[in-house]
Amino acid sequence: MTDLTRFRDDFPIFQHTTYLNSCSLGPLSRQSRGRVMTYLDQWERRGAANWYDVWWAALEELRTRYGALIGARPGEIALHPSVSSILGVIASALDTTTRRRIVTTTLDFPTVPYQWLPRDVDLVLLESPDGVSIPLELFERAVNDETALVVTSHVYFTSGAIQDIAAIGAIARRHGALSVIDGYQGVGQLPLNAPASGVDFYCSGGLKWLLGGTGVCFLWANAETTHGLVPSNTGWFAHKDQFAFDPRSFTPHDDARRFETGTPPLLPVYTQLGGLDVLEAAGAEAIRATTAALTEDLIAEARARGRVPKVAANAVDRSAIVMLPSADPKRDVARLADRGFIVDARPGHVRVSPYFYNVVADHRAFLEAFTDD
Ligand SMILES: Cc1ncc(COP(=O)(O)O)c(C=O)c1O
Repeated sequence: MTDLTRFRDDFPIFQHTTYLNSCSLGPLSRQSRGRVMTYLDQWERRGAANWYDVWWAALEELRTRYGALIGARPGEIALHPSVSSILGVIASALDTTTRRRIVTTTLDFPTVPYQWLPRDVDLVLLESPDGVSIPLELFERAVNDETALVVTSHVYFTSGAIQDIAAIGAIARRHGALSVIDGYQGVGQLPLNAPASGVDFYCSGGLKWLLGGTGVCFLWANAETTHGLVPSNTGWFAHKDQFAFDPRSFTPHDDARRFETGTPPLLPVYTQLGGLDVLEAAGAEAIRATTAALTEDLIAEARARGRVPKVAANAVDRSAIVMLPSADPKRDVARLADRGFIVDARPGHVRVSPYFYNVVADHRAFLEAFTDD
């Protein structure tokens, strides 16, 4: 297995804490800090003049590199500040008068159903039998010819279970529905070829496994299946000729930028470019192999200490989100933080997520420190 420990020095946080919380927020790299300093220098020295060369190019660079990360062609990526804003734009492009049904699940991040609860649609929220994943048969049963959209996660944020997104996309397509995959917990820790998956949309962002921090997300839109959609929730970045400043007509971009809205926040663009520098140097397959090995060791060590992690039954379906039952997760997380271990609390569990820059000693020391008294 490729040794990725050399990347640990790129993350100053490891000098003083044991960081095991990449599924909440990826740590800051030297590369991101360097990129941000460059951006601030540009802003200070040239102000708006930067738009016409370096900042416009940075947006294009980010779309291209996000695309390359998931095997997508240029022109298939739209930039957004959050997954919520992406979902809102997609929702605004659908005709839910003829197809009223939206299928999602109770394991998805709540911002997914929140897009639909206030709308006049038939929302189907699939319940998980085990709190870990949603069997494909439940999607099969719920999706019908009245379904406009199936929207669910690549990896469930409360269990780390990996979903078969190709199968979910195929179920949607069989019924003429579109599929959206919330990949915020997927790509980065998992290699991905989005076009090969057969889904219609895949979104993710910088916050977690992509090491880009807050405020920068992307939407991959399958050019063949989503080209005809015109969101009503839009903005001038979606206009094919935005610098014509024509208030009388709106012509959306031919490519995925039709799903963008307004001016993207630039500082996160730069933090994300720095995060991608690290990820590209480490390599997606090596990241997955290293992270999976750490995860399996964490699960085995936790079990050896009598804990019962809530994770998928088979290793192949597991990702680097390990839920350890806790009577008082908030208290445990605060106490662990006092001792230099950064993990997270979710209802009933302490959530631990190793990544490629972690080492076995990190989670073993964490398990020693994680006591029930
Ligand atoms: C699976 C998943 N989707 C979405 C989000 C966040 O969505 P937004 O970008 O709208 O804050 C998170 C966590 O922050 C998440 O874990």
